[in-house]
Amino acid sequence: MQETLTALVGKAQTELAGIKTRPEFEAAKARFVGPNGDLTALMKQMGSMPKEQRPVLGKLINETKTRLQQLLDDALRAIESLELQAQLGPAVDPTLPSPDAGPGTYHPLTLVREEMCRILRKAGFVVADGPEVETEYYCFDALNTPVDHPARDAQDTFYFPDSARFGNVAKKTPEEKYLLRTHTSSVQIRTMLENPPPIRIVSPGRVYRRDTSDATHSANFHQLECLYVDRNVTVRDLKALLDYVFASLLGKEAKTRFRPHYFSYTEPSFEVDLSAKHLPKVNKEWIEIGGCGLVDPTVFAGVGYDPDKWSGYAFGMGLERLAMLLYGIDDIRYFYQNDLRFLRQFA
Ligand code: DAH
Repeated sequence: MQETLTALVGKAQTELAGIKTRPEFEAAKARFVGPNGDLTALMKQMGSMPKEQRPVLGKLINETKTRLQQLLDDALRAIESLELQAQLGPAVDPTLPSPDAGPGTYHPLTLVREEMCRILRKAGFVVADGPEVETEYYCFDALNTPVDHPARDAQDTFYFPDSARFGNVAKKTPEEKYLLRTHTSSVQIRTMLENPPPIRIVSPGRVYRRDTSDATHSANFHQLECLYVDRNVTVRDLKALLDYVFASLLGKEAKTRFRPHYFSYTEPSFEVDLSAKHLPKVNKEWIEIGGCGLVDPTVFAGVGYDPDKWSGYAFGMGLERLAMLLYGIDDIRYFYQNDLRFLRQFA
């Protein structure tokens, strides 16, 4: 009997060691200690043993039962730990650096935007913001843009349907339409309506036009707007600021020139050309870079500034154009394709 019990413990030890799942465990438990199991069968044999041997055998059987229970408990714990491991997956060290893309870098448009803002902040300008959804009033009417101006045409501008609602942009009249702003000049109006003069703001941001995308056009691009309002502001102040800005951004070799033009919100108005042949891939002498002028008295009157007392200049330019010049990029579409081979060059 003693050998049989020892053999049973040995058998349980080897079998349980190889068990990995709960069904296997339950089956093994039934085989060893269940009602029809080996131990129960041995206990039943007790009755046929001589009386004087029974206490010793009883003790042995109890010890075997305890030992079997220990082995079963160990096997169950091993299974539970396997189950937990399966749930948790492979071991990770959360303090290790991330195995994915690693730290990002600034987009070239962000780099140019920030550099322009830094240069203008040095000249006392503060950054102002405005919504990308605008009303006709801020985008056109307040900027003295006549009703029949081509910029207002649905061919050139993205209008929203009359049912569109934007809680953060208030319409002047219910008939007015919402649109995606076609230029950052709308921020001039928002700033002047909210602040008394003098004003010195720079406002970079996204603008939208119905353009077919090609190497130099995109329906969605970025502009940078500046507005300066003070007493006795002249075209010389405007020219001096632009010369300072471009010399700071592109180097002392950069020059600007003004060509007379028409904008409804400035008088006189100019287009600004830039000469920067020292830059990579620039092979033209003069490159058109933006528009500018002295703020039209009608615009001042519309926002409640006395045009006899206040004067100012404004200018606007495309950030993509600037970044393309600065970095020698020859296709505007690169900015929006998120190709890491392109973006990594600006790290
Ligand atoms: N808003 C003009 C455009 O998008 C650029 C511009 C011209 C801005 C003259 C100005 C300005 O502030 O005075 O083409």
